Amino acid sequence: MTDVQLETSGRNHLFAVSDSDQYLTQIEQAAHSFYRTKTFNDPDELLDLLHKQVPSALVIDAKLQGMSGIDMISKVRSFLSSDQLPIVYTIQGDRIDQLGTARGVPGVKALEKPYRRTELLHAISSQVNSAIEAEWDNIEPVQQAALKNTLESFNSIADLISEGNPVAYENVTANCEPLIKAVQDQNYKEMLKGVQGHDNYSYVHSMRVATLLSLFGAAIGIKGEDHMTLTAGGLLHDVGKMVIPHEVLNKAGKLDEGEFVVMKSHVTHTLDFLEKTKTLPNGVMIIAGQHHEKLDGSGYPFGLKGTELNQLGRMASIIDVFSALTDRRVYKPPMPPEKAFSIMGSMEGHLDQTLMLVFKEMLLDSVGDL
Ligand SMILES: [Fe+2]
Ligand SMILES: [Fe+2]
Repeated sequence: MTDVQLETSGRNHLFAVSDSDQYLTQIEQAAHSFYRTKTFNDPDELLDLLHKQVPSALVIDAKLQGMSGIDMISKVRSFLSSDQLPIVYTIQGDRIDQLGTARGVPGVKALEKPYRRTELLHAISSQVNSAIEAEWDNIEPVQQAALKNTLESFNSIADLISEGNPVAYENVTANCEPLIKAVQDQNYKEMLKGVQGHDNYSYVHSMRVATLLSLFGAAIGIKGEDHMTLTAGGLLHDVGKMVIPHEVLNKAGKLDEGEFVVMKSHVTHTLDFLEKTKTLPNGVMIIAGQHHEKLDGSGYPFGLKGTELNQLGRMASIIDVFSALTDRRVYKPPMPPEKAFSIMGSMEGHLDQTLMLVFKEMLLDSVGDL
């Protein structure tokens, strides 16, 4: 099975054990844009490694070599508590007795096969993020709703993409409403902070881009449906990243040529997916399609130049760069906004400097320390 190079931190690593290679491949595919997955046929080899390295979560299949899944759970729990390692236990639906036993163990989510891709991701993510999502309960209701609703939208899109189904735009807009309300009431700081610790980086980035684009729009007088287009466009702008492998998406160093080609393809994947929704406003397509274009024509995927770049595309690329610089990543702390703006100020061939200054002024005035 895959032999990935392990990082020193177990964050965003997923281990999975089963006697079936085919099943392990399925898990790997389901998780590949969210987690760096290492799979095991041999439970003892996994137990040895767990003494040295603890991943974010562990998937134990009921069918193992030489022991039962329940035995494996108790062996793991003998030295790793539920706080240290969440477990997802997957089992055929006919073995209900084991399902009950597994559900009784703290920090174990039992999942009946067959399940949808999102159910597995949700079972993993809800445990990995239980502490951070629990903190959301302590913030302002409207900001809390903004976080929960956008997360729900985001998670459901993972399913739609893998099933080849379109997203219903009215569901996205309904889920974006609390976010817009929070922005209009200037009541969004805890939300921007609260999202940073979530382990699904694509969600964190998209939520921050949605909020910042929404703020930017409000500051320049964009209202009503157009304001929703900006906000929803921010949330949806990178959904094609859900098909990009974790190794490329979260690589700490510079991408090599081949990896960059894969990374750039996220824009086409996003457009292919969004195109299926006939009711989608054109503005959302522009935000998704133009956020990596540069004024000098050196951007991707279309190499648009100067006036070919729509105002929405220009706003989106400013926010995308700002967010990428100030997002917290596994391998880097967030950059202070002032430093991000000084870098962006030198990107004349890339970003519209007039719009960038409007955004800078608005942000430093209203948000301060992000
Ligand atoms: Fe992007
Ligand atoms: Fe982005």
